[in-house]
Amino acid sequence: MKNKILEAKSHIEKIIHSNKVESLIVLGSGMSGFEDNYDHIAQINYSEVPHFLKPSIEGHSGKLSFVKINNQITGILSGRAHYYEGYPIHELVLPIRVFSLLGVKKIVLTNAAGGIADNYVPGDIVAINDHINLTGNNPLIGKNLEEFGPRFPDMSEVYSKYFLNIAKKVSENTFEFKTGVYAWFTGPSYETPAEVQFAKNIGADLVGMSTVPEAIVAKHCGMEVAAFSLVTNLAAGISKNPLDHNEVIEIANNSKLKLQSFMKEFLIAINTDK
Ligand code: HPA
Repeated sequence: MKNKILEAKSHIEKIIHSNKVESLIVLGSGMSGFEDNYDHIAQINYSEVPHFLKPSIEGHSGKLSFVKINNQITGILSGRAHYYEGYPIHELVLPIRVFSLLGVKKIVLTNAAGGIADNYVPGDIVAINDHINLTGNNPLIGKNLEEFGPRFPDMSEVYSKYFLNIAKKVSENTFEFKTGVYAWFTGPSYETPAEVQFAKNIGADLVGMSTVPEAIVAKHCGMEVAAFSLVTNLAAGISKNPLDHNEVIEIANNSKLKLQSFMKEFLIAINTDK
């Protein structure tokens, strides 16, 4: 694994030369095209980077862009591969480790999710403040890569309180700031109403099929993590209607501008030193 990470890293170094990358954002469903708000310093397809997985899902373009925000460089991963696509979990999180070796300390993860909490409506942007891993898998299983982090990393603050405060400030005057606990299910089947009820009973506000492996690995690497869900639907059983991926995409597309303008402001705010 270490060799694969190093090969990907040296390929990316050839593209960005010795420029420092300040932050990284991973775009989930509903965020594709965000990179086109900026002039690119560089842009490549994941397929050109050794060991980067190409997402097979619509709305995940599989492009890596580098842009300047607040005079600092941000890497944008447009689209991700998911666990339900059948990839080994270590390969899904490889880009996070590559960017850790490139010196990135700030990461922003985005996704589409089903809403559980009573105060959520489709179209809401929710800042994730904790997660519950319901999959039984963990990207850190296997030999620990000591150079990234410890065998038993602390997870008491995966989602940076500092970033949550910034998100709250940035959302002021635009939309009501909401936070929540994200429960990770593998998918690809949506949850059953009983599973959603179970997730609610144990403290989840959102359900989704991504983000948690990346957040665990980023925390293991010592990164400061922010994560945002776009609520594309009420979760199964809470919504009276059957879930439909096309509706998820439709709501994601309708809320795209709101999410993108929030994300632009948020990135400006974090691309400054504390
Ligand atoms: N469940 C899981 N993943 C999702 C959902 C959902 O209801 N909506 C969007 N992604």
